[in-house]
Amino acid sequence: MDPRLSQTSSPRKVVVIGAGAAGLVAADFSARYGAEVLLLEGTKHVGKKILISGGGRCNILPAELDESRFVTDSSRNTLNRILRSWPLTEQIRYFEHELGVRLVEEAGTGKLFPASQRARDVRDALLQHAERGGVRLCTDCLVTEIRSVNDAWRIEIRDAPAIHADAVIIATGGLSIPTTGSDGFGFRFAESFGIATAPRYPALVPVTSSDTRFTSLAGISIDVRISASSTRHSAEARGALLFTHRGYSGPAVLDVSHVLARATTEGDANARLRVSWLSHDELFWMDTLWHDSRGTAAGALRRELPERLVSTLMDVANVDASRTLAQLRREEKRRLLDVLLRCALPWTGDEGYRKAEVTGGGVLLSEIQHGSMECKAHPGLYFCGETLDVFGPIGGYNFFWAWATGRAAGISAATKE
Ligand code: FDA
Repeated sequence: MDPRLSQTSSPRKVVVIGAGAAGLVAADFSARYGAEVLLLEGTKHVGKKILISGGGRCNILPAELDESRFVTDSSRNTLNRILRSWPLTEQIRYFEHELGVRLVEEAGTGKLFPASQRARDVRDALLQHAERGGVRLCTDCLVTEIRSVNDAWRIEIRDAPAIHADAVIIATGGLSIPTTGSDGFGFRFAESFGIATAPRYPALVPVTSSDTRFTSLAGISIDVRISASSTRHSAEARGALLFTHRGYSGPAVLDVSHVLARATTEGDANARLRVSWLSHDELFWMDTLWHDSRGTAAGALRRELPERLVSTLMDVANVDASRTLAQLRREEKRRLLDVLLRCALPWTGDEGYRKAEVTGGGVLLSEIQHGSMECKAHPGLYFCGETLDVFGPIGGYNFFWAWATGRAAGISAATKE
């Protein structure tokens, strides 16, 4: 039954701040559950990050969800309860049956995209559904301050009169790609209200290097097993590594980059990036190096790896590329094995929020009720999306988080007694 049909008292006034991924879903569900909803967006555009996501195609969800791949400093138990509040199958049903956005799985990647391959269709469907449900949208409405006034909220807007609401949903995103409108407002506001947050750092971000042996490989993309470790954190991934003129990118690098970015912000000099080429194991490479003792080591590696990469790896291992495998000393073969299985990639930093797909850190989950996303210390105040201390890997995980938390906040803000 439509929740509006069972409504008896006057509707709650809910203001959603930020018309991004989480805000659009929050507004849609809040209206559907009977609230009078105003969606305030600071820029002239709606869902700018949806539009640029997935290379303009919007990787809307993963085909399967592995909860363990989300990253948080908060309780994993709380995180999992939130993730399970709107299961993947129900999210898929929402997009396909309620919004009319048919989804298709991209072959071999486990990612779901709109069948039209157009991010704009996802953004338009979300906005139209919300507006049809009664949500009023106000673009170019930058919220500058929020105050709690007698069990209600007063919201200050740049160059416009303040408005009042029974509930406020903060869906203002993180710090990544500031040109899309997210500048960390939610974090500043939370801290000014005494709400505990985890320190921020760029995540899913390209890593920089000044080592020309590797930057000269720009354009080469290769499957790897990669790990990043620092004094306190570590992460592993498999997938493509892309060499760039500035360092390293590609899904595998992005998925572990937060460990390095975090080490940089924490002043931890012990962070390392290591890679195993093609995910081959020790037995495979030993067989390659010991199998044909007549050819050169470089020749043996070239059968598996791109030529330019082989030259760099021979250089890093300090092995003369012209010598035959039979001529190589055991110690030289060991050095080569090391470079093939545990190659340390020299790195200097990361490309920062300008290029990061998401922001690590944010409002701690211990500050909110996991069922409702309501702030424990401030009834009527809700957080969702990237403002919270959670992000996931490449593959539709971050939209999954935005949709799930947006929906939970929207329903609770509308139905709170
Ligand atoms: P989001 O940033 O979407 O929205 C926040 C909104 O709040 C913005 O519209 C902003 O203007 C507004 N706002 C901020 N401050 C305000 C204020 N004071 N007043 C009013 N409005 C304010 N994820 C994924 O799952 N699949 C993918 O394919 C991709 N691809 C991708 C590509 C690129 C280039 C980036 C940068 C990111 C992705 N992501 C992704 C990540 C995904 O885009 C991200 O996790 C979600 O957009 C986060 O949703 P939010 O609603 O929390 O923030």
